[in-house]
Amino acid sequence: MSGQASAAPLLELRQISRQFGGLQALSEVSFQVEQGEIFGLIGPNGAGKTTLFNLLSGVTPASNGTIHWRGQAMQGLSPDRHNRLGIARTFQNLRLFTGLSVLENVLVALHRQPQGGKLDALLNSSRFRRRQSELRERALQLLEELGLADQAHRQASGLAYGDRRRLEIARALATAPALLLLDEPAAGMNPREKEQLCELLAQLRQRHQLTLVVIEHHVPLLMQLCQRLAVLDFGRLIALGTPEQIQRDPRVIEAYLGGSR
Ligand SMILES: Nc1ncnc2c1ncn2[C@@H]1O[C@H](COP(=O)(O)OP(=O)(O)OP(=O)(O)O)[C@@H](O)[C@H]1O
Ligand SMILES: [Mg+2]
Repeated sequence: MSGQASAAPLLELRQISRQFGGLQALSEVSFQVEQGEIFGLIGPNGAGKTTLFNLLSGVTPASNGTIHWRGQAMQGLSPDRHNRLGIARTFQNLRLFTGLSVLENVLVALHRQPQGGKLDALLNSSRFRRRQSELRERALQLLEELGLADQAHRQASGLAYGDRRRLEIARALATAPALLLLDEPAAGMNPREKEQLCELLAQLRQRHQLTLVVIEHHVPLLMQLCQRLAVLDFGRLIALGTPEQIQRDPRVIEAYLGGSR
């Protein structure tokens, strides 16, 4: 492990590849994400975007290459360890506890945070009860921020699709991440909800000092939201730059923005 953490980017991918049998899902992808950035990830279906998030969150190992977090290689770390380092994500196919209430969904995520007190829990001590009420406060505050406070006691299965996506974000934020990976957060939202989500993400970044990496097919939303974007096509990084640079890039236009697919 190198000792130059302070000068290093928050996240750095070096020549990342991932095969599934004969399929090359990612090929030698390299880029960096700086602290505080909102970074977009786009590309056609099957380009490798979710696979990249699986690598960044420790769900799947890379076949080749290394990922560095604050200058240190993250090889072989579990999803839980990634989470404790400060990396949280949402899933393209939502992973809520649909049988629990909206509030309980956030509480479950908060309870995963390290905290002493198994003995306290057993004894139901006053310290334990105080902790429970603090967690409840915190959960309600997160729901408030995500515009879900008025639905706190509703069963998660009863939420509208856009609200479910925001609940996923609340759950990810409960782990107090430095880096939040959002896999198609605006999928299924109407244009007005997409616009509001954009504003919400910018606010959350400020309030929680977040760095964001956002996968999204709705390109205008990303162009508005992100400082920089990376474009994947068949597992390869075909462009990296500001929204203006990406929009003008002939390879991106061919593969994604204006191509025949
Ligand atoms: N666990 C797996 N086993 C085998 N193949 C996989 C696995 N995960 C992903 N793939 C394949 O890797 C390629 C990239 O998939 P990935 O889900 O990363 O694409 P994506 O860019 O997120 O696409 P979409 O926009 O449709 O979500 C696809 O061809 C997919 O079928
Ligand atoms: Mg995907």
